Amino acid sequence: MLIIETSNYTELSKRAANLVIDEISKKPNLRICFATGKTPFGMYEELIKTYKKKKVDFSKIISFNLDEYLGIKKENKNSYFYYMHENFFNHININKKNINLLDSETKDSKKECLLYERKIKEKPIDLMILGVGVNGHIGFNEPFSSFNSKTRVIELSDETIKRNSKYFRNIQNVPKKAITIGIGTVLNSKKIILLASGKDKSEAIKKLIKTKPDKSCPVTALRKHDNLIVILHKEAGRIIR
Ligand code: PGA
Repeated sequence: MLIIETSNYTELSKRAANLVIDEISKKPNLRICFATGKTPFGMYEELIKTYKKKKVDFSKIISFNLDEYLGIKKENKNSYFYYMHENFFNHININKKNINLLDSETKDSKKECLLYERKIKEKPIDLMILGVGVNGHIGFNEPFSSFNSKTRVIELSDETIKRNSKYFRNIQNVPKKAITIGIGTVLNSKKIILLASGKDKSEAIKKLIKTKPDKSCPVTALRKHDNLIVILHKEAGRIIR
């Protein structure tokens, strides 16, 4: 595990973007799995800036996404379809055919999971970008998810619903279910970059760095991976000393 501690959020975002750009320059048809949320937002901004300076080419990359709510429209501002297009895809030269997003509107969520897992099997993920939840979740893999889990439908924990309700008009509007790539699927990625920013992530990061893998804190599964880079904003990393 390589830990990069940064002194502010801008630095975290730049370090993450630079790592992504390095990987794309080594392999233009890189298969990347992206994450949503507030943590990777600055990384997307940095990637867009670099693209505008013509210093990175996204035309051949193949993208996946970590998770998606179930039962909301794609054009809903809280869908991850919307997040990815609004904050990243619409501003770069990614080939729309190479974007693989989970379908929030699917009528057959089980089939959607199987199809997504199959797509990943056919095009294994080279680079996985992850954030982490306050409760240690990765994607929507909530505490006590199996470390071998695959892409599947999950019920959101009350804690996650409460935390995510700030993005919705009221808590009743927060979907109760989501689809997430499993922890086993995450661990099959060749390289993983985990981003953590904010004091409230410090407990989860402390467990990742200092304790054995434990299902009560899903992020600790990443200790099993031999190509993991953790980029911390100082506040989230303070606890490691
Ligand atoms: P955040 O979410 O980046 O918005 O903090 C991370 C997560 O819950 O996985």
